[in-house]
Amino acid sequence: MTQPTPLPTETPEQLAAFEARIQNGEKIEPGDWMPAAYRQQLIRMISQHAHSEVVGMLPEGAWITRAPSLHRKMILIAKVQDEAGHGQYLYHAAETLGATREQMLDALLTGKAKYSSIFNYPTLTWADIGMIGWLVDGAAIKNQTMLAGASYGPYSRAMVRICSEETFHHKQGKEMVVAYAQGTPAQREMAQDALDRWWWPALMMLGPSDKDSPNTPQLMRWGVKLKTNDEVRQEFINEHAPELIEAGLTIPDPLLHQDEQGNWIHGPINWDEFWQVVKGHGQMNRARLEARNRAHDDGAWVRDALNAYEARQHSQAAD
Ligand SMILES: [Fe+2]
Ligand SMILES: [Fe+2]
Repeated sequence: MTQPTPLPTETPEQLAAFEARIQNGEKIEPGDWMPAAYRQQLIRMISQHAHSEVVGMLPEGAWITRAPSLHRKMILIAKVQDEAGHGQYLYHAAETLGATREQMLDALLTGKAKYSSIFNYPTLTWADIGMIGWLVDGAAIKNQTMLAGASYGPYSRAMVRICSEETFHHKQGKEMVVAYAQGTPAQREMAQDALDRWWWPALMMLGPSDKDSPNTPQLMRWGVKLKTNDEVRQEFINEHAPELIEAGLTIPDPLLHQDEQGNWIHGPINWDEFWQVVKGHGQMNRARLEARNRAHDDGAWVRDALNAYEARQHSQAAD
């Protein structure tokens, strides 16, 4: 593991004291000294995470008007609203590091910022809504439970709160898919088709393989990540593979098997597909950005009204 190089303004003593705090399990708080690289990595991670929550509302929001019952519709509305709240917590957490909301939104809307690759896949049937809850929120929980132990206080606390809501998302998704997997032949077919399309993207959303994840060693040294992408992916498969099989579904990986340690070992992941999607060439990248830009433009009057209100408060205070 390479030793991080301090900036000219950062002394080795400062860096050593900072790393000692991390070793002691202390949380780093907004006003504390921190290396510039730590701040930058956290802004990158937290803002990407915030964008993922907000963009993640799009594939599910598209099905609110088509939910098959009032009960399912109420659950889906609550879930999509939760995701908006997660975006809010996370943008606030990134703001404590000096990033502005405008900078972060600009990076998203101009396509410079990344968000989770999974949301660039289309939601073709109602079963996709269940499968997203079970697999996508399930994968997110594995990652976020780890991040709840992260060294940066505001990120870690946001994760604790978010995870409890994600648990509800996960359960409702599982309940829905299990019901369809044991339902009519048409429902079973719909559930299987959703699994066929979402299984591999769900594995990929936990990030590139450790050998292609250059930031991981430093993020682990600084307590931002506590596990590697491949470790989190293994946890996810170990929990979900037996449950999907028990539900009567077939995981679309002929090489999937359990080893002597009890780990479920997957076949090769198509990382070319993953990188294509990350680079903006997934099925829905363009539509997602267009939808976010449209929403931002439609909300211009709200920002104008807030600015006018603030200006009036200022002028009244001056009077
Ligand atoms: Fe979320
Ligand atoms: Fe969620």
